[in-house]
Amino acid sequence: MVVRSRILGCGAYLPSRVVTNAELARRLDTTDEWIVQRTGIRERRVAADGELTSHLATHAAGAALGAAGLAAADIDLIVLATSTPDQTFPATAARVQAAIGMTRGCAFDIQAVCTGFVYALAVADNFLRLGQARTALVIGAETFSRILDWDDRATCVLFGDGAGAVAMQATDGEGTVRDRGILSTHLYSDGRYHDLLYVDGGPSSTGTAGHLRMAGREVFRHAVVKLAEAVDAAIVQNRLRPADIDWLVPHQANRRIIDGMGARLHLPPEKVVLTVDRHANTSAASIPLALAEACADGRIRPGHLVLLEAMGGGFTWGSALVRW
Ligand code: ACO
Repeated sequence: MVVRSRILGCGAYLPSRVVTNAELARRLDTTDEWIVQRTGIRERRVAADGELTSHLATHAAGAALGAAGLAAADIDLIVLATSTPDQTFPATAARVQAAIGMTRGCAFDIQAVCTGFVYALAVADNFLRLGQARTALVIGAETFSRILDWDDRATCVLFGDGAGAVAMQATDGEGTVRDRGILSTHLYSDGRYHDLLYVDGGPSSTGTAGHLRMAGREVFRHAVVKLAEAVDAAIVQNRLRPADIDWLVPHQANRRIIDGMGARLHLPPEKVVLTVDRHANTSAASIPLALAEACADGRIRPGHLVLLEAMGGGFTWGSALVRW
């Protein structure tokens, strides 16, 4: 017998305010056509004044618990991925812990920018497989609208706010690729690429939150290569073929990157879960938001093989393969 961590339920939350490309084009030198053609983004959600990352995360966590049939008292671990925490400290995860009424176990944040959810999933999976926790919430939650330079048309059109969560539990299995649960995670980082994607502030440098800065074309070039590395590692380790994959659920940064990965795996577009058109890039929240949507509408079903992949600032990148 081996222990596997199985995803029991997904949840999502999006702020109610929709900002369309047309609205951005009214105050920036950009067009709906440029944004759609370069990125596939048509609109994004933006959090209301006073609506914090922990609030989005708490809604998503509650929805995931409901979908899994679990109560807050069942949870003994929260791992929350964010680059836009409510405060420098304490962890946003601890605020969510209090908000859902969980009074035991542990809760902490991790920071891997757009790869955050894959990192958080890997950390929780390791806790569960080692027996250090039995039931976990893994959350990706962001309010990137708060760290965007709204005068920089090259970046502010690309991002949105939102949160997604999954509830996971340790289960016994035979350890085969047919057993339900997380089959593998692969994580990578290379800090030499700092200057291509970063925030120009922070408590130890400027004392301010700062704004996102990105060399978009360079990031794009690296994303294609690094995502391929992470995806290939998942397939090879599990002795599977791309044709075995039922769903690719990629980080939603750019339609062209997503289409490129789908084509590389010879997956028809119907097997790729796409939300970037409506959510834009919600960083660590994008994968769990996409998972929640594809589970709720019945696309992802028990037994399906689901491949997650992401790349972001750091650089960080990674993949997870899940038998749903
Ligand atoms: N509207 C109109 N024109 C614009 C806009 C805009 N919103 N933004 C930039 N431009 C202009 C530029 O000023 C430039 O003009 P110039 O030729 O006169 O100098 C022109 O468009 C081309 O700019 P590029 O940056 O070279 O355009 P590119 O085709 O590379 O597309 C984009 C830019 C969409 C950012 C692309 O590079 C990209 O998606 N990169 C990946 C970045 C990413 O997704 N990062 C997210 C975090 S990392 C991750 O999640 C993978």
